Amino acid sequence: MLDSYAREVDYLRVSVTDRCNLRCKYCMPAEGIESLGHTQILALEEIVRLVRVAARVGIRKVRLTGGEPLVRRNITDLVAQIAAIPQITEIALTTNGVLFADLAAELKAAGLTRVNFSLDSLEPDCFHYITSRGNLIDVTGAIAKALALGLAPVKINTVVMKGINDHEILAFVRLAKEMPLHVRFIEFMPVGDLPFYQTDRMVSVSEIKAIIAQQYDLYSGPAVQGNGPAKCYQINGGLGSIGFISAMSDHFCSECNRLRLTADGKLRGCLFGKQEINLKMALQNGASDEKLAHLFSKAIREKPRCHHMSEGWGADNKRKMYQIGG
Ligand code: GTP
Ligand code: 5AD
Ligand code: SF4
Repeated sequence: MLDSYAREVDYLRVSVTDRCNLRCKYCMPAEGIESLGHTQILALEEIVRLVRVAARVGIRKVRLTGGEPLVRRNITDLVAQIAAIPQITEIALTTNGVLFADLAAELKAAGLTRVNFSLDSLEPDCFHYITSRGNLIDVTGAIAKALALGLAPVKINTVVMKGINDHEILAFVRLAKEMPLHVRFIEFMPVGDLPFYQTDRMVSVSEIKAIIAQQYDLYSGPAVQGNGPAKCYQINGGLGSIGFISAMSDHFCSECNRLRLTADGKLRGCLFGKQEINLKMALQNGASDEKLAHLFSKAIREKPRCHHMSEGWGADNKRKMYQIGG
């Protein structure tokens, strides 16, 4: 279905939990969070029903996010049930990877088509610092498993932060050159009003490109399969690719194709801002599939034209990233 600005909306990002087994400094407060209770989050059957309804208004691709989606119990069943919806052509996952290796084979068998890993450092100490508790080896093992299972293309999401991991930009490029991995450098976004946010932590895509240009020539090549906002480049002789997600410096709102469903059942037209439609409440009130389809259509029609975050950090942006799912 087209929105009011003629954008085709066919991609639904579903946050299946607000819980996470890591505490990335830019995402979760250091003291942890008070997670939603069982009754507040969508049940798996509710998620499946909502995706089925969303498919009626044109959703074709689904991405499961969190928190960390793999901490949700029976996630494999959810993948299988969504994969069984005839109109859904792709079901992908964005994960921190910690629990992935053990679940990988069953996720693939259930119908998972792709996986993106969040990985902000290739140095064990720095990785542990950013995530407050993670072991790098769990994630590198998970990535190896995804490659071995042929869940291609395997992507890496790297949020670049000044003074924290910006010294590793060239190491990530080398990784994409030597392995069939698609590394996407992401501009740090001020979602969630955390003390960690400071404007001078953000490294813009043009700054990242300048650092890469010291050692590598990037050239535009065929786009890597995906539905997201990354702009993709190839490296001479490289097995993987490099992508840039310039959410702050050069937002991609004019090409935005997605809706977001939060773990507590709120449908959002944009990562930023306050607009939400409460589908959990509609379900509790016994809404029919027609009514739910009408609410999806309304979210698409009312999807905002663009965000204005680069003009004001923190404004209108109290929802935390782990609640929205990135
Ligand atoms: P592909 O289908 O593989 O392209 O995935 P994707 O890029 O859509 O999903 P992923 O979950 O890997 O997200 C990568 C990064 O892009 C994360 O930091 C997201 O927060 C960011 N991102 C995804 N969608 C949006 C969006 O609509 N707006 C903004 N500002 N950032 C987004
Ligand atoms: N800015 C940019 N990207 C972020 N992510 C989480 N928080 C932020 C932020 N503040 C990324 C994660 C993950 C994806 C879903 O969103 O690293 O890869
Ligand atoms: Fe967890 Fe992802 Fe947030 Fe890190 S960024 S704390 S892995 S949800």
